[in-house]
Amino acid sequence: MSIVIIRNDQKTMVWKEALLKADPDLEIYAYDEDHDPSQISMAMVWKPPHGALSQYPSLQAIASLGAGVDFLFEDETLPQGVAITRVVDPILAADMSEFVLGVILARIKNLLAFKRVQPKAKWLPLEYKRIIEVTVGIMGLGELGSRLAEDLIRFGFDTRGWSRSEKSLIGLSCFAGDKDLASFLSGTDLLVCLLPLTPNTRGILNKELFALLPKGAYVINVARGGHLVEKDLLDILDQGHLSGAFLDVFAQEPLSEDHPFWKHPKIDMSPHIASVSDVNSVVPQLLDNYRRLQEGQPLLNLVSKSRGY
Ligand code: NAP
Ligand code: GLV
Repeated sequence: MSIVIIRNDQKTMVWKEALLKADPDLEIYAYDEDHDPSQISMAMVWKPPHGALSQYPSLQAIASLGAGVDFLFEDETLPQGVAITRVVDPILAADMSEFVLGVILARIKNLLAFKRVQPKAKWLPLEYKRIIEVTVGIMGLGELGSRLAEDLIRFGFDTRGWSRSEKSLIGLSCFAGDKDLASFLSGTDLLVCLLPLTPNTRGILNKELFALLPKGAYVINVARGGHLVEKDLLDILDQGHLSGAFLDVFAQEPLSEDHPFWKHPKIDMSPHIASVSDVNSVVPQLLDNYRRLQEGQPLLNLVSKSRGY
């Protein structure tokens, strides 16, 4: 039994070294190192090339090295009957919450607007909003959305959340399913998307949804670029119904240099950096699952293939 790490970035060796430091007896290979595919029982991956996972005939588990797994289901050759796990980590959730809190505070206190006019030496005393005047609506009340909700409530924001199944969280107005979407949106000033990307949520941030938000609402997408219909966002911003958007994720990453988002006066962006798996924090759960696999025990943080998340 051995492990292969397949990543689309430069971080493969960082993960390999951290895993070996935690357990020097592991047999673990980077995808581009010489290894026998028939011996690989677990693949630890971040956006592997399509077709890579189907090369391993003895594969029993695929561990996403992030919270999201959408990139796995997009691979038509994804081996069937192999368990899929993902990262569930309090540090990942805290990082996301801190990032979104930063964006929200920057928004209601106009910090991004001041930064934008500074090069023009423009004195622009904009009116600010207080926390108690703002309702934040979170789409997705999973590991990340529920942690964000707790922090927003602690800060004093009027907070509401929308999920697939009914939820009950102290201090949170909970909405669930298609039946509640319009009422959830109608009272939301700042909308945060923290949904997984699935066939049901692809393109959910579209003109119909934006039209259900109050005039002047602001949209923050820190989930996946595939949730957003880009043209609909550009149109509704230009029409003035939404006041602005903050985007951390994009349909195509990196965003192409000529993309209209870069220079749009109502869009602020970051390069998919809202919350990044912390190697040292995540390694123990990967090793735990590898041991469970060897001992035939149930894996932790399993993804439901029927739900797609
Ligand atoms: P999670 O624990 O699986 O939670 C997903 C939430 O979305 C759940 O509350 C779920 O409802 C809800 N949901 C799913 N489909 C829905 C639908 N059709 N309608 C309404 N609600 C629906 O996921 P997570 O760990 O919080 O992560 C969320 C996403 O954040 C990830 O999938 C990833 O794409 C993204 N992410 C981004 C970054 C970044 O740096 N930008 C970092 C980490 C993660 P139920 O509770 O009813 O199942
Ligand atoms: C990052 O985008 C993740 O899914 O962890």
